[in-house]
Amino acid sequence: MEAHLTQIWIVAGGVLLCGLGAVTCLVRGDLKPMRASGQGLGRHGRLALGAVLGIGVIAFTIKLIALFFLSSYPTQTISPILAQSQMGQEKAQEKAARLQARMVQVPKAWTLWEALPETAPAPIENPTTKSKIALGKQLFHDKNLSQDRSLSCASCHDIDQYGGADGKKQAIGVQGAVGHRNTPTVLNAAFQRRLFWDGRASSLEQQALGPLLNPIEMGMPSDEAVVARVIQEASYPPAFRQAFGADGKITIKTITQALAAYQRSLITPDSPYDDFIKGDATALSEAAQRGMFLFADLGCKLCHAGPNFSGASLIGPKRPYAPLQSHRLAEKEAQALSQDKGRAGPESDLGVWRIPSLRNVALTAPYFHNGSVDTLSEAVRIMAQAQLNAKIIEEKQFEPKSDMKILRWSQEDRSFTLTQKKILQQKDVSDLVAFLEALTSRSLQPK
Ligand code: HEC
Ligand code: HEC
Repeated sequence: MEAHLTQIWIVAGGVLLCGLGAVTCLVRGDLKPMRASGQGLGRHGRLALGAVLGIGVIAFTIKLIALFFLSSYPTQTISPILAQSQMGQEKAQEKAARLQARMVQVPKAWTLWEALPETAPAPIENPTTKSKIALGKQLFHDKNLSQDRSLSCASCHDIDQYGGADGKKQAIGVQGAVGHRNTPTVLNAAFQRRLFWDGRASSLEQQALGPLLNPIEMGMPSDEAVVARVIQEASYPPAFRQAFGADGKITIKTITQALAAYQRSLITPDSPYDDFIKGDATALSEAAQRGMFLFADLGCKLCHAGPNFSGASLIGPKRPYAPLQSHRLAEKEAQALSQDKGRAGPESDLGVWRIPSLRNVALTAPYFHNGSVDTLSEAVRIMAQAQLNAKIIEEKQFEPKSDMKILRWSQEDRSFTLTQKKILQQKDVSDLVAFLEALTSRSLQPK
């Protein structure tokens, strides 16, 4: 703050000195000949003229100072009050450090486009092997693992038809029980450091226990009951020995390990986007390329980051969660999307969710944790408005400037900032959708 005041005085002093210098030259230069010819002003007249000019210079200087002061009004008037207290100063320093840290991170997230690795990482205690994958695949499709033998994992995570999800708003478990969350895809789940919409599981091994015992999913009464069902099937004991070694037993641990190993093989590094990144310039349509630019320019990429387009990705940044800013949306949408608070817990007034992957997202409608949104286009509109505060206008409403300046007051930092509000047309939303469609694996695209 003091630095600012010093700057003001240096500028004002400089202007004043220049002004005085100029006046002296004027008086000495211009008035001299008049005096020599005897027709000029007398001594008093010259003094009066000098004084008038001098006052003019001073007034001009004051105006300059006032202008300088007003032009940086918020920081100049509000921050000094804050800076008076030690706390204010500490806060300012903290803010500067935060900003600097962000500056270091941001360029990386903005400029890096990465293809998905061909294999998924596995924990040391459960290396992925062919025999484990085969066993896991059999378990994943086995309806005997549910209480009334009506559902397998694949009933809700249908890879051939629904991109690893079920196409339903909310999952339907044993005996028609309706869950309150939408089924996410299992494809590329191997790249997630947090699993489930609220991120409550941290590995596929840990995650697999959830649906088996969940009364509104597969509804098994206990781990022992699951193990008993597996032992009953004659083909399993030899398959477990093959996958886990000569004394490989059927336990809940080996069952979940096999399921996890199979899911680690469910990755889709073969989308048009990946081909484009690897150098095939024709892999993306023009619309998809415009969408790709917008995806970074708008800031979608700051959350849906890394090659898996997920903040919760092992290979992405370390920020797995984000609040869904549903209060910024129209009332009806906000109501449906803000009932469940996710990770934040029921008491919170803000829903916090794991940032989901956008790979194969075109195949996994309906969208969001409660499956309340049917189309990808609507999901993109909601994200742009709710998460990025963009404004979407209808075509021909007016010729938009690409962005609009808005003055915002931050209660936290007690300062104004001039931010740019992005204006999007429906066409831009379609371009973003075209880009998201290019994240669909070629092997899953409708033929
Ligand atoms: C009744 C439908 C249903 C069945 C059956 C089911 N799931 Fe799920 N699955 C869901 C739902 C719903 C969620 C999200 C729950 C949540 O976030 O609270 C989910 C989440 C997951 C996730 C997390 C994905 C991610 O990105 O967070 C994985 C992995 C998964 N299930 C694997 C399995 C496995 C393995 C089985 C079989 C043992 C299985 N599921 C059985 C409905 C089902
Ligand atoms: C501040 C972080 C953040 C930003 C920025 C952001 N998203 Fe999201 N996105 C999320 C979170 C969190 C969810 C999950 C919300 C939920 O389910 O309630 C999500 C969900 C989605 C979904 C639905 C995925 C599914 O499987 O249901 C789509 C599509 C999506 N985002 C696209 C975008 C696009 C396009 C942009 C840029 C216009 C964007 N997001 C910007 C955090 C973000």
